[in-house]
Amino acid sequence: MPKFKLDSKSSRSFRDRIRPFLLALVVSLLLVYSIWTFTETVWPSFSISTIFTNSTTNHFCIPRADYFNRTHDPPETTFYDDPQLSYSLDKPLDNWDDKRSSWLKLHPSFADTVENRIFLITGSLPLPCKSPIGDHLLLRCFKNKADYCRIHGYDIFYGNSCFDPKLCNVWAKVALIRASMVAHPEAEWIWWMDAEAVITDMDFKIPLERYKQHNLVIPGWPNLIYEKKSWVAVNTGSFLIRNCQWSLDFLDVWTNMSPRSPDYKFWSETLKSTLSDKAFPGADDQSSLVYLLLREKKKWGDMIYLENEYYSRGYWVEIVGRFNEIIKKYFDIEQKVPALRRRRAEVVSESLRGVWEKYMGDLGFGFGNGGWRRPFITHFTGCQPCTGNHDPSYKGNSCWIAMEKVLNFADNQVLRRYGFAHPDLGNGSTVFPLPFDFPADENNELV
Ligand SMILES: *[C@@H]1O[C@H](CO)[C@@H](O)[C@H](O)[C@H]1NC(C)=O
Ligand SMILES: *[C@@H]1O[C@H](CO)[C@@H](O)[C@H](O)[C@H]1NC(C)=O
Ligand SMILES: *[C@@H]1O[C@H](CO)[C@@H](O)[C@H](O)[C@H]1NC(C)=O
Repeated sequence: MPKFKLDSKSSRSFRDRIRPFLLALVVSLLLVYSIWTFTETVWPSFSISTIFTNSTTNHFCIPRADYFNRTHDPPETTFYDDPQLSYSLDKPLDNWDDKRSSWLKLHPSFADTVENRIFLITGSLPLPCKSPIGDHLLLRCFKNKADYCRIHGYDIFYGNSCFDPKLCNVWAKVALIRASMVAHPEAEWIWWMDAEAVITDMDFKIPLERYKQHNLVIPGWPNLIYEKKSWVAVNTGSFLIRNCQWSLDFLDVWTNMSPRSPDYKFWSETLKSTLSDKAFPGADDQSSLVYLLLREKKKWGDMIYLENEYYSRGYWVEIVGRFNEIIKKYFDIEQKVPALRRRRAEVVSESLRGVWEKYMGDLGFGFGNGGWRRPFITHFTGCQPCTGNHDPSYKGNSCWIAMEKVLNFADNQVLRRYGFAHPDLGNGSTVFPLPFDFPADENNELV
């Protein structure tokens, strides 16, 4: 059983003793700098003394670079006032790019940083889970996504209803995406994630700058699409879709292959005969997407980014057995780099990214390629935690044991920001307070 070995006798060096003073100096410099920035750009009428002397108001909390005015909704008409506008797939939505940009002009506090704004949607079916631990596992999977969103400043929505009665299945995501695009004109990207997918690198930031020329970003492998014609050539368990007209058109074409289409039967047969390894009946969302890439590459392909550079689609079976080694590799780096061990407020944890990037080479290119980087997302393909009807090839409780480990592996990255950790990845019930400067001491290791 893995546990923390903690050595309390580690001697404090000179460096350790002066560290608090250096820290205080840096913090006060930052404070002065940030106040200066606010007073210069956002709140020119505030004087520094107002901020420091009046403790009954929280002026200090309000001015931020990403300040959103949630009370500002001017009376000018927008697409929301159009009685014909529909949130559902029943009615096409035209001219969306103009409509959305008019809305943004009327809501300038949301317009400034719009291109980096991600809205995460996930969800499960409306009924209670059949498996006795199903709802517990789904709750923990949701907590994992909520933690990630809080750390990176994204909003999140949990869909617990079928917005389209014919799509109360793997296709439910498409109706949720469509409604979310209309509900969130301030979000540039809608990020769909399956309920049972788990984010296993809480520090990883989606490299949006790579996708400027694309509207759909999905894990995928061109050779599996165009040569093997495999239904697993892309993964619809987690993907980003831009909030724009192209995407609405794409959703319409895509759902034309779903159970809400009069041609569903035709598509089910076509997919089965076209794709080399599709064994089960019915046109599912993933096979349909592979088909669209295969047959309508010219029309859609250019705008679809097949992401296979970072490990965005980790398969749990390949990952779980390597956790202790991954943890050790990360500790090794943290032992060398004091900045990575430094405690900090959760809200500024993204400040570590640049530091980590310098040492990522030590971990090899990527987990899937023999490296030791944490996979960004781990998928529980075939586990079905809600129904409990896992793939019979996964023996006994292996799915649930693995989910517990994966969730605790991710949770440790979060709890650390709160001063705690699970000493045993196999049991989320216990936590352990982390000592100052963890894991500076070589004995402070998960063994
Ligand atoms: C502090 O701010 C509140 C609200 O703006 C104001 O009513 C109060 O008079 C201020 N107090 C001082 C000491 O400036
Ligand atoms: C936010 O919007 C409201 C309503 O339009 C306005 O009164 C208020 O001044 C705005 N707040 C800021 C900080 O701009
Ligand atoms: C997990 O730890 C708790 C508290 O120590 C204990 O009661 C529980 O039995 C453990 N669960 C497993 C599966 O070992």
